[in-house]
Amino acid sequence: MTSPDPVVLVLFGARGDLARRMLFPSLYRLAAAGRLPDDYAVIGSGRTAPDSVDEFRDSIRDALAESVDDLDDDVVQKLLQRLDFQSSSADDGSELADTVRQAREKLGPDATTLIYLSVPPTAMESMIAMLGREGLADGARLVVEKPFGIDLQSSRALQETITSVADEDHIYRIDHFLGKEAVQNILALRFANGLLEPAWNATHVESVQIDVPETLGLEGRGSFYEATGCLRDMVSTHLCQVLGFVAMEPPATLEARDLREAKAAVFDAMRPLDPQRVVFGQFDGYRGEEDVDDDSQVETFVAAEAYVDNDRWRGVPFYLRTGKALADKRRTVTLTFRTPPSPFPGERPEPDELALDLTDTPVATLDVNVKRPGPELATERLSSRLELTPSDHADDSLAAYERLLLDVIRGDQTLFARSDEVDRLWQVCQPLLDNPPKVQPYEKGSWGPESAVKLPGDRGWRLPDQSDG
Ligand code: BG6
Repeated sequence: MTSPDPVVLVLFGARGDLARRMLFPSLYRLAAAGRLPDDYAVIGSGRTAPDSVDEFRDSIRDALAESVDDLDDDVVQKLLQRLDFQSSSADDGSELADTVRQAREKLGPDATTLIYLSVPPTAMESMIAMLGREGLADGARLVVEKPFGIDLQSSRALQETITSVADEDHIYRIDHFLGKEAVQNILALRFANGLLEPAWNATHVESVQIDVPETLGLEGRGSFYEATGCLRDMVSTHLCQVLGFVAMEPPATLEARDLREAKAAVFDAMRPLDPQRVVFGQFDGYRGEEDVDDDSQVETFVAAEAYVDNDRWRGVPFYLRTGKALADKRRTVTLTFRTPPSPFPGERPEPDELALDLTDTPVATLDVNVKRPGPELATERLSSRLELTPSDHADDSLAAYERLLLDVIRGDQTLFARSDEVDRLWQVCQPLLDNPPKVQPYEKGSWGPESAVKLPGDRGWRLPDQSDG
């Protein structure tokens, strides 16, 4: 494998939580696997500088020790040596521009600048404008963290600013769910299996659930959550992107252009969400959390019914659910199949269900009706588990941010959202921003408000049956 061209990675928000928990550990893993270019530099940035570069390096060493088992000291050392810090703000990025210039000069004319903006949506536009003024964005790849804006209008303004400094083919809108092996595996299951693809449509599928409950609460992110809420943090982004993979037509190829085109077509066909068919919840105790308003109406839970009005999916409800402080942490996509006319006596058989657990080592569970052993021709329900990770490759999987950082380095936009996708998803969600459903309280450790439990109808959500919750 030839080494990619040298890169200068500029990381805004380098002292923040995402950088410590995800980005630096991912860089470390890429370095340990020999996937980084031979020559690279990492420049951390943010409004407040550490006392010294050494202090910054030490803090990153600590962060790595917290996240990675069996750290290889040699790899850590080499990574830290390439790490620098230069403070900057939306008003002033001149010193940062100098530091980047020097780093590029050291790496030679082939060096590419990658700028990772791990900053809140409200700060994004002014930071990008600064990059433009300082010439930092020229020829650089810009990685933008979600949410992209906070509504349709702000996302369009952000898009205008961003395209005034960089071309669309240099913009990487990151949604880390698409970096997950298990999410990419949806494409393999669908498009490489003659058993599944012919049945993956409204003729055979009755409903789909995309269920991402979390047990975590706010984890000190009160001010982020107050500004963002669960709809923007999880639904218009992660859950909809997963829906895009579940619902897309077979792309002509797996190249960035075709795959993103197929996903964008799903969002184009999505019906704007109906506030009457969406439940917002807030866990008890949320208003007592740090940086949270005493009267906050911000939702920490969303359950929604969505539709994709195209030939493949017309009439099939997609139920999306996610929230904080719930009974279980899962990421599960469930397809419920229509029941055939059955000669078996008694009640109509239960529908077949295929549940894909999008865990690090993905698993599928297939619930089917089988013959109950004995002298009668009668059926019984059986749940079978399929492991979806080949055991001899289990160690080869990349963590989501690791994969996506590698793709930015390689210049591959396949797993990043295009601007028209983002625009359309805001259009789909905008009715909820204009007329938000009233937030319903729910107990921590529950499955959310009662009205959400009933949203998918009599069969309910699949998950409570499958866990202790
Ligand atoms: C992040 C959200 O993007 O995704 C968090 O900001 C959420 O609120 C997290 O907890 C979930 O990601 P994962 O990979 O842990 O399922």
